[in-house]
Amino acid sequence: MRYMPEPFKIKMVEPIKMTTREERKAFIRDAHYNAFSLSAEDVYIDLQTDSGTGSMSDSQWGAMMRGDESYSGGRSYYRLIEAGKEIFGYDYIQPVHQGRAAEKILFPLIVTPGQYVISNMFFDTTRAHVGLAGGRAIDCVCPEGLDSGAYFDFKGNMDVPRLKSLIAEHGAENIAAIVMTITNNSVGGQPVSMANMRETAAVAKEHGILVVIDAARYAENAFFIKEREAEFADATPIEITREMFSHGDVFTMSAKKDALVNMGGLLAVRENGPLVDAIKTRVISFEGYLTYGGLAGRDLEAMTTGLYEGLDHDYLTYRIGQMQYLAARLTADGIPFQNPVGGHAVFVDAGKLLPHIPYDQFPGQALTVELYIEAGIRGCDIGSYMMDRDPETGEQQRAPFEFTRLAIPRRVYTQAHLDVVADALKAIKDRADGITGYQITWEPKVLRHFTSHLKPVD
Ligand code: F0G
Repeated sequence: MRYMPEPFKIKMVEPIKMTTREERKAFIRDAHYNAFSLSAEDVYIDLQTDSGTGSMSDSQWGAMMRGDESYSGGRSYYRLIEAGKEIFGYDYIQPVHQGRAAEKILFPLIVTPGQYVISNMFFDTTRAHVGLAGGRAIDCVCPEGLDSGAYFDFKGNMDVPRLKSLIAEHGAENIAAIVMTITNNSVGGQPVSMANMRETAAVAKEHGILVVIDAARYAENAFFIKEREAEFADATPIEITREMFSHGDVFTMSAKKDALVNMGGLLAVRENGPLVDAIKTRVISFEGYLTYGGLAGRDLEAMTTGLYEGLDHDYLTYRIGQMQYLAARLTADGIPFQNPVGGHAVFVDAGKLLPHIPYDQFPGQALTVELYIEAGIRGCDIGSYMMDRDPETGEQQRAPFEFTRLAIPRRVYTQAHLDVVADALKAIKDRADGITGYQITWEPKVLRHFTSHLKPVD
């Protein structure tokens, strides 16, 4: 249970507020038991997301001062393109303002309404953009990914036999693309092996299907490949990254994760061709001119520096070490979670921790509320509460698991903060029997978990 020491020292601090249990009970009640409606000021340790919440380095802040704010052809743009080409080996690199902007530009260009898009597991916005383009999203994660208790090195993998049978069933001409999400956020930030990327790409090539990489956590995935796939034990994260991306045709990236910026994204194409021309037209309409893509010149500088920092081996050892330390503490206290822990978050298995709460009373949300009341920690339900109702029947859908995600921002919290999280979960486990489920009192039709109101079940 060794904590990997930080490979940095702290130059700037941001105070966080301590609150009392009574205050927190009132804050969460006033927020209708929806953690998204809390004021972030009233949160002590914010593990809602690892997206855009990291700390930038002195090199990144320094680089920002050199941002070239020219409307077109700025120096900062060329620096980013050079880095993107060096790291990923793609012909065309387009900055955009965040990951979903890349998805919005890409999917209408590659999906014909009615076609399928198959993924090892879609992130919500990616799934939404496939749907908005008229496509049908199919999740195809390996079966090990759905069993939280069972250890498996690469739980994020594509289920290749099922992928083949889906192609046979629907016909390759009806599959618009295969999306490889690395790491696989929705099953717990679980990595995808190089072997699986190669195999998936070979199937795609055989059938002439486009491979899109959803690349938000590319560096964490590369680190797991180095640790767990013998062939890569001596490779650097950047060498592994280059091979991973060679198995894709296009990538979309939220740079708010592994590229260590608070805002930014990329859309890239391996070989120049008609798709690049089509992308350019949409970028200018939606994001801005090609050489800034919805970002300031200084943001491009921070991203360029962050792309390299995110691949630093010492940083990644510390980063994944934080996850593994928290996971070891939970194991010692018998708290169930998606095992082994992934790259950006610990996914606590609330369904197992609170077995008396049925899925339609949202165990993942109940644990989210309890963690806030216990210690001011903000997590996020990844379970049936996050699922919208069946659009046809209006019935509550059942998620394959009931998780509370504790996403760890990069370079932000210390070992002592992680101890607070582990202690809070232990305290909740000891009084688990008295914790009740929740029911929704108001909800919008789509993406309800962000804004709906809840109350405890009597
Ligand atoms: N793809 C993956 C795998 C993601 O995790 C996210 C965002 C996106 C795409 C969209 O990127 O937010 O920059 O538009 N995930 C965040 C999260 C929001 O909390 O997991 P974005």
